[in-house]
Amino acid sequence: MLAKWFFNVRWSWWRLVFAAIVTVGLYSTYIRFTRGLGASTALRDTFPWGLWIGFDVLCGVALAAGGFTVSATVYVFHLDRFKPVVRPTILTAFLGYLLAILGLAYDLGHPYRIWHALIMWNPRSVMFEVAWCVMLYTTVLALEFSPILFERLRWERATRVAHGLTVPLVMLGVVLSMLHQSSLGSLFLILPSKHHPLWYSPWLPFFFFVSAVGLGCAMTIFESFLSFRVFGKRLEMHLLSDLGKALAVVLGFYLTLKIVDLSNRGALPKAFESSYEGRMFLVEMLLGVVTPLALLLITRVRSDQLGLFVAAGMTVLGTVMNRLNVATTGLESQAGAYFPAWTEVAVTAFIIALGFAGFGLAVRHLPVFPSAELAPSREMPAAHLPFVAAARQPFNLSKALAIGAAVLATLAAGGLAFSGIRTLQNRSDSPPKAKPMAQEMLPLEIRFAPGPKSPGTVAFAHTSHVDLEKPDCAVCHAGEFDLRNRLSQSSSAGARLHDVRLCGSCHDGERSFSVKEDCEICHGVEAPARGPGA
Ligand code: HEC
Ligand code: HEC
Ligand code: HEC
Repeated sequence: MLAKWFFNVRWSWWRLVFAAIVTVGLYSTYIRFTRGLGASTALRDTFPWGLWIGFDVLCGVALAAGGFTVSATVYVFHLDRFKPVVRPTILTAFLGYLLAILGLAYDLGHPYRIWHALIMWNPRSVMFEVAWCVMLYTTVLALEFSPILFERLRWERATRVAHGLTVPLVMLGVVLSMLHQSSLGSLFLILPSKHHPLWYSPWLPFFFFVSAVGLGCAMTIFESFLSFRVFGKRLEMHLLSDLGKALAVVLGFYLTLKIVDLSNRGALPKAFESSYEGRMFLVEMLLGVVTPLALLLITRVRSDQLGLFVAAGMTVLGTVMNRLNVATTGLESQAGAYFPAWTEVAVTAFIIALGFAGFGLAVRHLPVFPSAELAPSREMPAAHLPFVAAARQPFNLSKALAIGAAVLATLAAGGLAFSGIRTLQNRSDSPPKAKPMAQEMLPLEIRFAPGPKSPGTVAFAHTSHVDLEKPDCAVCHAGEFDLRNRLSQSSSAGARLHDVRLCGSCHDGERSFSVKEDCEICHGVEAPARGPGA
């Protein structure tokens, strides 16, 4: 049966790639949820956020900015021309949030406790705001998305109700989304001394917000082209050109702000230093801001399919690079180098693949792109990638310009990234000395409540168990010595503490003295005070 089905399915190239990504992704998911974050990521106590936060969550959420920008343009400022753009952007936003939540489920230590933020309020925490924004805005997006679904199902009453709710929902969406885009930036504001000055800025929340708006425009252009290629559905060229113009304005604004901010803080020279961070920063700006801006400023490029596609694609890449730089590169000088584990990469690819699949399904089955444009237009044969199509068309200056600029920028970016990574490798030979932990920060000596048969009170000193140069608290506290279940305070814990999972895990006669022989080292303490904790 199964074999028959297997051979009957038409395995196109992309389906095979998709199947491979899903298989590896599911296996990584299994590792993540059975063996934990330690086994499935390259994260550590000093580097708690990596690819999953930097890419899946930050970029997923940034994707959604198009949703509120465009719906505000249409419903609040009444620029009705842009109405056909609303649906694809809402779809992107909704998918972006769903994927961000999925990414979060991987990254949170205890994802099933995610509802705690609803009940156990901690209004002083940025995380609290983030949690609420995610939940509320996802709900709003689901509601904003619902008319598309109702229309398809022909539920007329529901469609009318949903349409009636549009304007209040859009307003709510704008507020929540603005809050959320910028609060993600705020998360990094607590790291002034750890973050590299090229990215750490008091304006970070604002930068996140502005670049997310740019990404929103770029993503709409980008998706319109992809869905045209695959389904023959897309937006009208004049709308895309207008989006390109808007994108140019946003990018210009962003670039100006960035320069002003860097020079105000005296960090501008750092961008041109031959350091890992300097190089990565240049790559980000070159790919995501400078080249697309230069291209979009040229009218001919802006009104050309391929030109727009290239500029939008580069903006998307650059924004991704920016989020990764903020979340990881910026911290590496203080927290040591981070390179994601293969499982992290596999899960990320899995999530992206799900995103593409979701977008494809929605575009194919729901009225996302305006139906008037269903028929593929003459301008470009649907069956070819824009690049192929471009190559077949007669020579055209704007196309040559777009491709040339893209190739040059990509080569330059590759070269810069390569030289940046070389400087990083040199650096990891002599890693920056992390500040040792101060002895005073360790808890005072802990005395275990002796059981009735105890040969003598046992004192536990953190000072003899923690390497202040490289403190690793998780060896004990991530496992059996869970501080919510204080073994030291229960006299019935008794000889269970000899167990190989507790004190016996190290006091086994090999790594340290043994619980089976050296009784007096632990039990021989009796009354005399030892250390400050007595
Ligand atoms: C070798 C194992 C081990 C390591 C490593 C370790 N601890 Fe502990 N810690 C313990 C034990 C055992 C207790 C007592 C647990 C109990 O009461 O059940 C404890 C208790 C504590 C307490 C409660 C103190 C009190 O006075 O009630 C704190 C706080 C604590 N640890 C912090 C840390 C920090 C911070 C680090 C890393 C710098 C660390 N621990 C590393 C074993 C360890
Ligand atoms: C992560 C490994 C590890 C665990 C778990 C651990 N120890 Fe130790 N402990 C050590 C090492 C290493 C030393 C250093 C002694 C040596 O050089 O052999 C040490 C030393 C000691 C000493 C002698 C130094 C001093 O502070 O007086 C005592 C007592 C002691 N441990 C008690 C305990 C008790 C009680 C527990 C369980 C609550 C425990 N240890 C759990 C690794 C561990
Ligand atoms: C690494 C430190 C360590 C060593 C070594 C060690 N113990 Fe213990 N032992 C403990 C701790 C901690 C407890 C729990 C607190 C208590 O009951 O005093 C305990 C509890 C006990 C108890 C149970 C008390 C009760 O009433 O439940 C007995 C008995 C005991 N130890 C005997 C020994 C003997 C005998 C040795 C040597 C062969 C030994 N221990 C070596 C840490 C140690």
